[in-house]
Amino acid sequence: MTSDRFYIENSSQFDGQVVTVKGWVYHKRSSGKIKFLVVRDGTGLMQSILFKGECSEDSFAQFEKLTQESSVEITGKLRKEPRSPGGYEMGVQSLRVVQIAEPYPISPKEHGIEFLMEKRHLWVRSARQWAALRVRSEIIRSINEFFDSQGFIRFDAPILTPSPCEGTSTLFSTAYFDQTAYLTQSGQLYSEVGAMAFGKVYVFGPTFRAEKSKTRKHLTEFWMVEPEVAFADLEDNMKLGESLIEHIVQTVLSKKAEELKILERDRSKLESIRAPFPRISYDDAIKILDKKGIGVSWGEDFGAPHETALGEEFEKPVFIHHMPSQIKAFYFKQSDTVGGSGVSGTGRYALGCDLIAPDGYGEIIGGGQREDNLDVLMHRISEHSLNIQDYSWYTDLRKFGSVPHSGFGLGVERTVAWMTGVEHVRETIPFPRMLNTLRP
Ligand code: 4AD
Ligand code: MG
Repeated sequence: MTSDRFYIENSSQFDGQVVTVKGWVYHKRSSGKIKFLVVRDGTGLMQSILFKGECSEDSFAQFEKLTQESSVEITGKLRKEPRSPGGYEMGVQSLRVVQIAEPYPISPKEHGIEFLMEKRHLWVRSARQWAALRVRSEIIRSINEFFDSQGFIRFDAPILTPSPCEGTSTLFSTAYFDQTAYLTQSGQLYSEVGAMAFGKVYVFGPTFRAEKSKTRKHLTEFWMVEPEVAFADLEDNMKLGESLIEHIVQTVLSKKAEELKILERDRSKLESIRAPFPRISYDDAIKILDKKGIGVSWGEDFGAPHETALGEEFEKPVFIHHMPSQIKAFYFKQSDTVGGSGVSGTGRYALGCDLIAPDGYGEIIGGGQREDNLDVLMHRISEHSLNIQDYSWYTDLRKFGSVPHSGFGLGVERTVAWMTGVEHVRETIPFPRMLNTLRP
């Protein structure tokens, strides 16, 4: 499909031609008889110049009225100009005002985060937000590309669900006619259904957790991609995870160089992210933490300081596997030993794998091998005080051709935060939802 519509990001294809930019005023200044206008059109920024004589008298008059974020259509000739933001500059012939903007609340001066969050609907126009959300879009595209190229079927899971996947402590519930429905915490149980029907699938959608924690890594609504593969064990799962991450990182580096520059992201830290990634057991992770003076006792979950400390040990993301089963969800296959292939029933260890990103971005992947034995799974469901009836459809998978299978969930926002170097996940999704944030 071709389109004659001009966008700033395609300037190099229009060198020397007369084009029309439809966009918004980013910045303007006058210097004697020359007027400079920087416009953005959503795809990039471009400097344009109005010269007396080259540009209509009326356009000159219009220029004076322009305020920040006024919408305009400017027509003129494009020429290479290395000092212009996108490398091209326009010699304006005519300028048409679409709307003169009211005084814009977001100025180049510093604003507090609370104010910016209230103005999120406008804040997304700012350069850093724009760049981060373009990287997000590319990451999502590259995830779909990765799975599509490997023959995975996209298998959509419901958002309104009858039963929890990740425990009952972070459930949002809502009335569903005369029943109670829960907003999905994870599409995993449905992804497992898909794996048995299609061999390898991925669920991709929003997930919800009533997280009361106010950290830079937690949202109450976030996006997860959840692949699930039949006849796959824990090691297969880690291999799939690391090749997905490598694909995402290398794609963003090659396709989003401009955005990473705006974000001042140190590229060298990302360039070395190639599979394989280091793998350490939970037991060995504890030893590392002990040496660093922030030991935890066996059976405790890692918190943010532990994840950061483990991330610092390696230049690449690191897998932590074989966690204590007591801190993991009901569906994990278990083992008595680290490195065991899964001894059902008595295992101290869950066949899980979490991937910790460098630089304090924390866990970006959580997953593992699933319990595939019907009796053990039934036992676990009741151990976790969940209602067996709610899971009858899920336990059917263990009655009709049960096989070893594995999968994981990759959190999109934490991945975007790590890739962009943005400090807080609230800047990695257009409209973040957090403990005290429901607007806009
Ligand atoms: O480790 P989690 O809880 O794993 C699951 O939900 C599995 N059922 C997934 C699966 O095996 N199919 O969550 C997976 C990932 C985490 O590693 C993290 O990246 C992200 O989801 N995540 C969050 N991201 C933002 N805000 C939150 N509150 C998040 N909770 C989890
Ligand atoms: Mg997890």
